[in-house]
Amino acid sequence: MKISIASDHGGFEQKEPLKTFLSQEGHEVIDRGPATDERVDYPDFAALVAHDVVQKVADVGVLICGTGIGMAISANKLVGIRAANVTTPDFAELSREHNDANVICLSGRFTDLATNKAILGVFLHTKFGEGRHVARVQKIGALEQSR
Ligand code: RB5
Repeated sequence: MKISIASDHGGFEQKEPLKTFLSQEGHEVIDRGPATDERVDYPDFAALVAHDVVQKVADVGVLICGTGIGMAISANKLVGIRAANVTTPDFAELSREHNDANVICLSGRFTDLATNKAILGVFLHTKFGEGRHVARVQKIGALEQSR
């Protein structure tokens, strides 16, 4: 899979080991930054990854900030993005199976590295459940037209 990844300073420390983990799992990783742990604004980096997913440069996106919350709120502003803020492997599975999430947002401050690796493993191996979930995900898409 082609995976676009980025963080802010709150997620930077985990970005490098998570990149290594993803490469070892056989994925192609596109690192959209930042290159250091200097303070940055998370919407800037959420936008880079979200654009990669919308423009099909990447299959899925991974965003890491302090909580994952700001990244999810930002990425979800782009049409076609379904970003899920995930802190457990169970939620990773459900975000794919029920919501067809295409961006996962992780916490670099409240979730340890081993758990985030487990979360990513589940997220990348779980398929969308189809069936009753299709119409619901279509309704999420329809909300993108509302003001
Ligand atoms: C940065 O201090 C922090 O606000 C950010 O990493 C993130 O947690 C925002 O949601």
